[in-house]
Amino acid sequence: MSRQIAISGVSKGLGRAMVDGFIEAGHHVSGCSRTKAAIAELQASHPDHDWHVLDVADDQAVADWAGAIPCPDLLVNNAALMNTPAPLWEVPAATFDALTSVNINGTANTIRHFLPGMLARASGIIVNFSSGWGRSSSAEVAPYCATKWAIEGLSQALSQELPQGLAVVAVNPGIINTEMLQKCWGEGAEGFPDAPAWARRAVPFILSIGPGDNGQALSCP
Ligand SMILES: NC(=O)c1ccc[n+]([C@@H]2O[C@H](COP(=O)([O-])OP(=O)(O)OC[C@H]3O[C@@H](n4cnc5c(N)ncnc54)[C@H](OP(=O)(O)O)[C@@H]3O)[C@@H](O)[C@H]2O)c1
Repeated sequence: MSRQIAISGVSKGLGRAMVDGFIEAGHHVSGCSRTKAAIAELQASHPDHDWHVLDVADDQAVADWAGAIPCPDLLVNNAALMNTPAPLWEVPAATFDALTSVNINGTANTIRHFLPGMLARASGIIVNFSSGWGRSSSAEVAPYCATKWAIEGLSQALSQELPQGLAVVAVNPGIINTEMLQKCWGEGAEGFPDAPAWARRAVPFILSIGPGDNGQALSCP
Protein backbone atom coordinates (compact mmCIF):
# COMPACT_ATOMS: atom_id res chain seq x y z
CA MET A 1 0.00 0.00 0.00
CA SER A 2 1.31 3.44 -0.91
CA ARG A 3 2.19 5.55 2.12
CA GLN A 4 2.48 9.30 2.53
CA ILE A 5 6.03 10.13 3.70
CA ALA A 6 7.29 13.49 4.97
CA ILE A 7 11.07 13.83 5.17
CA SER A 8 13.39 16.70 6.07
CA GLY A 9 16.78 17.33 4.49
CA VAL A 10 16.26 16.04 0.94
CA SER A 11 18.80 18.16 -0.98
CA LYS A 12 21.76 15.75 -0.65
CA GLY A 13 23.22 12.87 1.32
CA LEU A 14 21.02 10.30 3.02
CA GLY A 15 17.82 12.32 2.61
CA ARG A 16 18.24 12.59 -1.16
CA ALA A 17 18.99 8.87 -1.44
CA MET A 18 15.97 7.95 0.71
CA VAL A 19 13.73 10.04 -1.57
CA ASP A 20 14.66 7.87 -4.56
CA GLY A 21 14.19 4.69 -2.54
CA PHE A 22 10.81 5.69 -1.13
CA ILE A 23 9.52 6.73 -4.56
CA GLU A 24 10.82 3.54 -6.23
CA ALA A 25 8.97 1.57 -3.53
CA GLY A 26 5.73 3.26 -4.60
CA HIS A 27 5.25 5.81 -1.84
CA HIS A 28 4.33 9.50 -2.06
CA VAL A 29 6.99 11.85 -0.71
CA SER A 30 6.88 15.39 0.63
CA GLY A 31 10.37 16.72 1.32
CA CYS A 32 12.07 19.90 2.45
CA SER A 33 15.51 21.50 2.48
CA ARG A 34 16.87 25.04 2.45
CA THR A 35 18.70 24.86 -0.91
CA LYS A 36 16.45 26.23 -3.66
CA ALA A 37 18.38 24.69 -6.57
CA ALA A 38 18.16 21.18 -5.11
CA ILE A 39 14.42 21.55 -4.48
CA ALA A 40 13.95 22.80 -8.06
CA GLU A 41 15.84 19.71 -9.31
CA LEU A 42 13.53 17.45 -7.27
CA GLN A 43 10.49 19.29 -8.59
CA ALA A 44 11.72 18.69 -12.15
CA SER A 45 12.69 15.03 -11.64
CA HIS A 46 9.73 14.05 -9.41
CA PRO A 47 6.87 16.44 -10.31
CA ASP A 48 4.21 14.14 -8.85
CA HIS A 49 5.68 14.54 -5.39
CA ASP A 50 5.80 17.56 -3.11
CA TRP A 51 8.84 19.79 -2.44
CA HIS A 52 9.38 22.73 -0.11
CA VAL A 53 12.23 25.18 0.43
CA LEU A 54 12.27 25.67 4.18
CA ASP A 55 14.41 25.70 7.30
CA VAL A 56 13.20 23.17 9.89
CA ALA A 57 14.44 25.51 12.64
CA ASP A 58 11.68 27.95 11.57
CA ASP A 59 8.60 26.76 13.47
CA GLN A 60 6.14 28.78 11.33
CA ALA A 61 7.65 27.46 8.10
CA VAL A 62 7.24 23.89 9.40
CA ALA A 63 3.65 24.67 10.43
CA ASP A 64 2.96 25.91 6.88
CA TRP A 65 4.51 22.73 5.43
CA ALA A 66 2.37 20.50 7.65
CA GLY A 67 -0.72 22.51 6.75
CA ALA A 68 -0.07 22.12 3.03
CA ILE A 69 0.04 18.31 2.79
CA PRO A 70 -2.02 15.30 3.94
CA CYS A 71 -1.04 13.89 7.31
CA PRO A 72 1.95 11.58 6.72
CA ASP A 73 2.01 7.89 7.61
CA LEU A 74 5.76 8.21 8.14
CA LEU A 75 7.73 11.28 9.26
CA VAL A 76 11.51 11.07 8.82
CA ASN A 77 13.49 13.69 10.71
CA ASN A 78 16.72 13.48 8.73
CA ALA A 79 17.90 17.11 8.43
CA ALA A 80 20.89 17.95 10.59
CA LEU A 81 24.12 19.93 10.80
CA MET A 82 27.62 18.86 11.90
CA ASN A 83 30.20 21.17 13.47
CA THR A 84 33.68 21.66 12.03
CA PRO A 85 35.75 19.52 14.41
CA ALA A 86 37.11 21.61 17.30
CA PRO A 87 37.38 21.53 21.09
CA LEU A 88 34.08 22.63 22.57
CA TRP A 89 35.43 25.88 24.01
CA GLU A 90 36.62 26.95 20.57
CA VAL A 91 33.23 26.39 18.90
CA PRO A 92 31.61 29.78 18.20
CA ALA A 93 28.28 30.36 19.93
CA ALA A 94 26.61 30.85 16.55
CA THR A 95 27.76 27.40 15.42
CA PHE A 96 26.54 25.73 18.60
CA ASP A 97 23.20 27.55 18.30
CA ALA A 98 22.83 26.49 14.66
CA LEU A 99 23.32 22.82 15.53
CA THR A 100 20.85 22.85 18.42
CA SER A 101 18.32 24.88 16.38
CA VAL A 102 18.32 22.46 13.46
CA ASN A 103 19.11 19.10 15.03
CA ILE A 104 16.96 19.41 18.16
CA ASN A 105 14.47 22.25 17.63
CA GLY A 106 13.93 21.30 13.99
CA THR A 107 12.95 17.79 15.05
CA ALA A 108 10.63 19.13 17.76
CA ASN A 109 9.09 21.53 15.22
CA THR A 110 8.12 18.79 12.76
CA ILE A 111 6.75 16.64 15.58
CA ARG A 112 4.74 19.62 16.91
CA HIS A 113 3.04 20.12 13.56
CA PHE A 114 2.77 16.61 12.10
CA LEU A 115 1.93 14.57 15.20
CA PRO A 116 -1.54 16.03 15.93
CA GLY A 117 -2.82 14.63 12.62
CA MET A 118 -1.34 11.23 13.43
CA LEU A 119 -2.98 11.30 16.87
CA ALA A 120 -6.36 12.18 15.33
CA ARG A 121 -6.00 9.29 12.88
CA ALA A 122 -4.55 6.96 15.57
CA SER A 123 -1.63 5.87 13.35
CA GLY A 124 1.77 7.13 12.30
CA ILE A 125 5.49 6.42 12.59
CA ILE A 126 8.16 9.00 13.45
CA VAL A 127 11.79 8.18 12.66
CA ASN A 128 14.30 10.56 14.24
CA PHE A 129 17.79 10.31 12.79
CA SER A 130 20.33 9.83 15.54
CA SER A 131 23.95 8.73 15.14
CA GLY A 132 26.63 6.53 16.62
CA TRP A 133 27.47 9.83 18.30
CA GLY A 134 24.01 9.77 19.88
CA ARG A 135 25.10 6.69 21.84
CA SER A 136 28.86 7.25 22.19
CA SER A 137 31.17 10.27 21.93
CA SER A 138 34.43 11.54 20.44
CA ALA A 139 36.60 14.59 20.91
CA GLU A 140 35.89 17.67 18.78
CA VAL A 141 32.27 16.82 17.96
CA ALA A 142 30.72 17.79 21.32
CA PRO A 143 28.04 20.06 19.77
CA TYR A 144 26.92 17.29 17.40
CA CYS A 145 27.06 14.62 20.16
CA ALA A 146 24.97 16.87 22.42
CA THR A 147 22.26 17.17 19.78
CA LYS A 148 22.16 13.48 18.90
CA TRP A 149 22.08 12.36 22.56
CA ALA A 150 19.20 14.84 22.84
CA ILE A 151 17.42 13.10 19.97
CA GLU A 152 17.72 9.77 21.79
CA GLY A 153 16.22 11.24 24.98
CA LEU A 154 13.53 13.20 23.15
CA SER A 155 12.50 10.05 21.27
CA GLN A 156 12.36 7.88 24.40
CA ALA A 157 10.33 10.45 26.34
CA LEU A 158 7.93 11.03 23.45
CA SER A 159 7.44 7.26 23.07
CA GLN A 160 5.95 7.21 26.57
CA GLU A 161 3.39 9.83 25.52
CA LEU A 162 2.12 8.08 22.39
CA PRO A 163 -1.04 5.96 22.29
CA GLN A 164 -1.17 2.52 20.65
CA GLY A 165 -0.90 2.63 16.88
CA LEU A 166 1.81 5.28 16.85
CA ALA A 167 5.56 4.96 17.26
CA VAL A 168 8.66 7.10 17.53
CA VAL A 169 12.12 5.61 17.17
CA ALA A 170 15.68 6.92 17.05
CA VAL A 171 17.69 5.45 14.18
CA ASN A 172 21.46 5.35 13.86
CA PRO A 173 22.04 5.16 10.10
CA GLY A 174 25.64 3.88 10.35
CA ILE A 175 28.65 5.56 8.70
CA ILE A 176 28.10 6.80 5.16
CA ASN A 177 30.27 8.88 2.85
CA THR A 178 28.26 12.12 2.62
CA GLU A 179 29.24 15.79 2.83
CA MET A 180 28.54 15.59 6.56
CA LEU A 181 31.03 12.75 7.08
CA GLN A 182 33.58 14.51 4.86
CA LYS A 183 33.23 17.59 7.06
CA CYS A 184 34.40 15.69 10.13
CA TRP A 185 36.65 12.97 8.65
CA GLY A 186 37.98 14.54 5.42
CA GLU A 187 39.49 11.87 3.14
CA GLY A 188 38.80 9.28 5.86
CA ALA A 189 35.19 9.29 4.66
CA GLU A 190 36.19 7.68 1.37
CA GLY A 191 36.26 4.11 2.67
CA PHE A 192 32.56 4.14 3.55
CA PRO A 193 29.55 3.37 1.34
CA ASP A 194 27.90 6.20 -0.53
CA ALA A 195 24.32 7.27 0.15
CA PRO A 196 22.62 5.36 -2.74
CA ALA A 197 24.32 2.09 -1.67
CA TRP A 198 23.28 2.74 1.95
CA ALA A 199 19.70 3.51 0.90
CA ARG A 200 19.27 0.12 -0.77
CA ARG A 201 19.56 -1.44 2.71
CA ALA A 202 18.16 1.41 4.79
CA VAL A 203 14.94 2.20 2.91
CA PRO A 204 13.36 -1.28 3.36
CA PHE A 205 14.49 -1.22 7.00
CA ILE A 206 12.91 2.19 7.67
CA LEU A 207 9.71 1.17 5.88
CA SER A 208 9.52 -1.93 8.10
CA ILE A 209 9.40 0.09 11.35
CA GLY A 210 5.97 -0.30 12.92
CA PRO A 211 3.96 0.57 16.04
CA GLY A 212 5.54 -2.35 17.91
CA ASP A 213 8.92 -0.61 17.68
CA ASN A 214 7.80 2.40 19.72
CA GLY A 215 10.62 3.74 21.91
CA GLN A 216 13.37 1.63 20.36
CA ALA A 217 16.88 2.87 19.60
CA LEU A 218 17.46 1.17 16.24
CA SER A 219 20.40 0.92 13.83
CA CYS A 220 20.21 0.53 10.07
CA PRO A 221 21.52 -2.82 8.82
N1 LIG B 1 26.64 10.43 7.08
C1 LIG B 1 26.84 9.73 8.17
O1 LIG B 1 27.79 8.94 8.29
C2 LIG B 1 25.90 9.87 9.34
C3 LIG B 1 26.20 9.15 10.50
C4 LIG B 1 25.34 9.24 11.59
C5 LIG B 1 24.19 10.03 11.50
N2 LIG B 1 23.93 10.74 10.36
C6 LIG B 1 22.71 11.52 10.32
O2 LIG B 1 22.01 11.26 9.11
C7 LIG B 1 21.28 12.44 8.71
C8 LIG B 1 21.66 12.82 7.29
O3 LIG B 1 23.06 13.10 7.27
P1 LIG B 1 23.88 13.27 5.90
O4 LIG B 1 25.18 12.60 6.11
O5 LIG B 1 23.03 12.94 4.75
O6 LIG B 1 24.15 14.87 5.95
P2 LIG B 1 24.32 15.92 4.75
O7 LIG B 1 24.88 15.27 3.55
O8 LIG B 1 25.03 17.08 5.35
O9 LIG B 1 22.79 16.34 4.43
C9 LIG B 1 22.04 17.00 5.41
C10 LIG B 1 20.70 17.38 4.84
O10 LIG B 1 20.00 18.13 5.84
C11 LIG B 1 19.51 19.32 5.24
N3 LIG B 1 19.39 20.41 6.22
C12 LIG B 1 20.37 20.90 7.01
N4 LIG B 1 19.89 21.90 7.75
C13 LIG B 1 18.58 22.05 7.41
C14 LIG B 1 17.56 22.92 7.83
N5 LIG B 1 17.79 23.89 8.74
N6 LIG B 1 16.32 22.79 7.29
C15 LIG B 1 16.08 21.83 6.36
N7 LIG B 1 17.02 20.97 5.92
C16 LIG B 1 18.26 21.09 6.44
C17 LIG B 1 20.51 19.64 4.14
O11 LIG B 1 19.90 20.43 3.15
P3 LIG B 1 20.08 22.03 2.97
O12 LIG B 1 21.48 22.34 3.34
O13 LIG B 1 19.72 22.22 1.54
O14 LIG B 1 19.07 22.62 3.89
C18 LIG B 1 20.80 18.24 3.60
O15 LIG B 1 19.81 17.88 2.66
C19 LIG B 1 21.61 13.51 9.75
O16 LIG B 1 20.61 13.52 10.76
C20 LIG B 1 22.94 13.02 10.34
O17 LIG B 1 23.15 13.52 11.64
C21 LIG B 1 24.76 10.67 9.28
